[in-house]
Amino acid sequence: MVKVLRATHLELNAAVQALRDGELVAFPTETVYGLGAHAGHPAALRRMFELKGRPTSHPVIVHLDSVRFLTRWARDVPPAAERLAEAFWPGPLTLVLPRAYNVQTLVTGGQETVAVRIPAHPMAQQLLTAFGGGIAAPSANRYGRVSPTRAEHVREEFGDAVRVILDGGDCKLGLESTIVACLEGTVRLLRPGSISLSQLKHVVGDVLTQASADAPRAPGDRSAHYAPATPLATAPSEEIEQLADDVSGRGRRIAVLAQRPPMRTHQFVTWINAGARPEAYGHALYAHLRSLDRSGCVRILVQTVPGDERWDAVRDRLTRAAAASVEEIDASDDSLAVGVLP
Ligand code: TXA
Ligand code: MG
Repeated sequence: MVKVLRATHLELNAAVQALRDGELVAFPTETVYGLGAHAGHPAALRRMFELKGRPTSHPVIVHLDSVRFLTRWARDVPPAAERLAEAFWPGPLTLVLPRAYNVQTLVTGGQETVAVRIPAHPMAQQLLTAFGGGIAAPSANRYGRVSPTRAEHVREEFGDAVRVILDGGDCKLGLESTIVACLEGTVRLLRPGSISLSQLKHVVGDVLTQASADAPRAPGDRSAHYAPATPLATAPSEEIEQLADDVSGRGRRIAVLAQRPPMRTHQFVTWINAGARPEAYGHALYAHLRSLDRSGCVRILVQTVPGDERWDAVRDRLTRAAAASVEEIDASDDSLAVGVLP
């Protein structure tokens, strides 16, 4: 397969012009596609929040091409943040830092902090350099839904509402960045990603993980998030076959996302074996959830993933997706929930 990783001049000019005009530009990063807006343009930011359907109190990440203008966004870059930046930028790391005074309220969600990331994807780098400023970009999906890992996913979500969609192929990592807050002398992991807790500790020593009352608010952090439209539940390997049979025995189609092939044939089961390697599993997770969402199944049953650190990011997203489903099932009074979902 040919990987298209660089935009043409024509595409780049169109994207930069769109950003300057206050329009939205979707672009690839190594994690997921972002829905970009000029970070200093309140009308563009409002348009982005409206299109996503995201509450304006939820802050967004500012993307930069390098650290050269970091202090325009963060008024203080503590030594721990400098070390993390040195180790992992450009890359799948977002740092939450004290905000500079002129950062738009829509970017910070009205908080005293700002989230900044320098992505490594060559096309993101091209865009950021050509634009020459900060691009505020949440993942390019509707609020609470699965992040896009291909340009076609962004088209499915938003169609023509995004003026330019830069197609940089399949995102290499497939899960959103690791978010770390460096504030008041502490380092706190806010969202697990492909940069692991041990990698962070290796660079800065102590890293807090528990949420605390005075920790920065990360609203994407609310438990119900990253969810497909089809209700999703997790179950251990040894229970999957029985649960799948229970539902398919009633003539309803169920989807299974497993780390192994099925042990027998099931009549109404769409089975995906996503394998037992965390990187490959994480890379394909959102694309699998999207295709299972379209498969006409009444449930998505996900085999519980291992407890070790390499699965932290995947486990985090699956736990949130399942939490969102429980909320929906509670609201829908669906008898199929009985015996299938916790
Ligand atoms: O990999 C990624 O991080 C992708 C790509 C496009 O860069 N972006 C992404 O953005 O996942 P979004 O908006 O879907 O998730 C960003 C998370 C949200 O949960 C938001 O609440 C949190 O970052 N966040 C943003 N600014 C923050 C801040 N100042 N303090 C704490 N959390 C913040
Ligand atoms: Mg998101």
